[in-house]
Amino acid sequence: MSKFYITTPIYYPSGNPHIGHCYTTVACDSIARYKRMQGYDVMFLTGTDEHGQKIEEKAKEKGVTPKEYVDEIVETFKKLWSYMNISYDRYIRTTDDYHVEAVQKIFKELYDRGYIYKGEYKGKYCTPCESFWTESQLDENGCCPECHREVKEASEEAYFFKMSPFADRIEKLLTETDYLQPKTRATELVNNFIKPGLEDLCVSRTSFTWGIPVTFDTKHVVYVWVDALSNYITALGYENEAYNDYDKFWPADVHMVAKDIMRFHAIIWPAMLMALDLPLPKHLAVHGWITFNGQKMSKSLGNVVDPFILGERYGADAIRYHILREMALGADSSFSNEIMINRINSDLANGLGNLVSRTVAMVDKYFGGTLPSERESGEFDDELKNAALALRERVDGFIDQTQINNALAEIFKVISHANKYIDETAPWVLGKDEGKRARLAAVLYNLLEAIRISTTLLSCFMPTTMPRIWEQIGAKESDISYENAARWNVLPQEATVHRGEIIFPRIDVDKEIDELNKIIGNSKKDEPKEDDGFEPMPLAEQITIDDFEKLDLRVALVKECEKVKRSKKLLCLQLDDGMGGRQVVSGISEWYKPEDLIGKKVIIVANLKPVKLCGVESNGMICAADTAEGGASVIFPDQSLPCGTKIR
Ligand code: MSP
Repeated sequence: MSKFYITTPIYYPSGNPHIGHCYTTVACDSIARYKRMQGYDVMFLTGTDEHGQKIEEKAKEKGVTPKEYVDEIVETFKKLWSYMNISYDRYIRTTDDYHVEAVQKIFKELYDRGYIYKGEYKGKYCTPCESFWTESQLDENGCCPECHREVKEASEEAYFFKMSPFADRIEKLLTETDYLQPKTRATELVNNFIKPGLEDLCVSRTSFTWGIPVTFDTKHVVYVWVDALSNYITALGYENEAYNDYDKFWPADVHMVAKDIMRFHAIIWPAMLMALDLPLPKHLAVHGWITFNGQKMSKSLGNVVDPFILGERYGADAIRYHILREMALGADSSFSNEIMINRINSDLANGLGNLVSRTVAMVDKYFGGTLPSERESGEFDDELKNAALALRERVDGFIDQTQINNALAEIFKVISHANKYIDETAPWVLGKDEGKRARLAAVLYNLLEAIRISTTLLSCFMPTTMPRIWEQIGAKESDISYENAARWNVLPQEATVHRGEIIFPRIDVDKEIDELNKIIGNSKKDEPKEDDGFEPMPLAEQITIDDFEKLDLRVALVKECEKVKRSKKLLCLQLDDGMGGRQVVSGISEWYKPEDLIGKKVIIVANLKPVKLCGVESNGMICAADTAEGGASVIFPDQSLPCGTKIR
């Protein structure tokens, strides 16, 4: 039997999980379920990344040990995964003994092979915080970003991992193979990290203790990313006795991660594997962020959406469906309660739910719940049947490219087609004519078959509710299989249905959003309404189209971004404008952190004369809206627009 190994990142248990963490896990779960249905022997791994200074500090604040601290949050992660019906096969904790021992062996092996050497780590050191900082991390006064006291030049002994021997192989991996999905991200990695020369990586720390000790020099702990990335092989039994699946499952078929940790998986992880002489994973699928009002959803920004609250109101499957359908591989997806509820209404309640309840109700009404075996085929039948029978192959293709949103779109095309077929064949007219009973039976049978096929495939993405539909359409366990998803006439000719509860009740959008906002504590709706007291600024003087033509607005990608030193307001952004790149300084530092913007496309005024702001040259301006609170809200265009696109 063919094997399939898929992994999520291992999550930091430094705060409770949010809907942003759910995306990768639900996406990997759906692919794992699909592959199992196809007959693969699947290993689906997830877990938690429990070491590091941040965890050590948080535990100290709470007055507990780091292990006690992570134990509690890990339980919440596991509770969420069970709630979201995540079918992981293995859960790794980096505090598990077997992992700790294996990482120690990996570190030693890299040292013995000459890829790890002892050196000196130089940087800005804050004595009260016992922390090293890089230049770009310092605050606007060049002081410690934590306590804002002075830092001094200092160095400490550390181990380093030689990256340069692998630069050529990594560049080829990224540009000449289909390792990276989407491959368009290869250019930014190569230009930003490989072309300037791969720097050696500092892989040990002595300034805190919550980590895996280096066996041959115990005042050092292993750098948390070396510890974390190793999980993908230690969880299979590499260099440990706890498991014995390494030979069977390695190399991984898919590592799925979000864009902020792509570099670690696209450069450092392959370099580690090359240094250990191990095979490389086959694919790295990189997705964007779930954003909220244009910003990455994160605890520090206070814009976290609690999946437990949403799940309790609409069910885990509706949440799974919404996030999977919204996120296109490579781009960000903006989360809004309103969009989610509208999608649940349109696709699940009106589309799928309505199809099932109408079909089952008609079999009940016209045939007392069991179809007769006489059939009369007619117009529109073949189109529906062919669309349903072609569906599996299309979904297969999208799953292989980790394009889950497209796989779901294909399934919902067939569901819409079936709803259209009801309108085309008008069973309520056939039902009035005794002579059309065989035709009516054929129409209803075709509908049941289209439902069976689409829900079989859909069950990988929405595993909880599909069995309830199968019960209603009278499908037995043996009718539901990958093989049968490309066959017609699987349900018995005399199919019997069982009317049941409405699977996806329609939601009253306005009422629900008010309720949600009360629970979540948002004072406002997603979109400000006119009567929210918002006063637009007075209109500026009229201009002609020629005046407007003087403005050259373009789409540009934020490649790098950092605070301008000695300024509280300014960010300095390096942009890809499709015309060789440029530097722009923008006064939005109070509302955006560099990491909120890196990787995003923005709109710039591209033909502004260069100026110097706080001594830094700016060649253009980032377009942003004034918010009612006096802040700025950057305008993010469609992220698929190429850099340099002109805006009119
Ligand atoms: N511990 C590291 C991963 C080590 S893997 C060897 C880590 N953990 S994390 O908890 O901070 O993030 C885990 C994953 O969740 C990352 O891929 C991260 O980008 C993703 N997400 C966190 N917030 C997210 C959104 N708002 N949207 C989508 N994914 C997000 O990084």
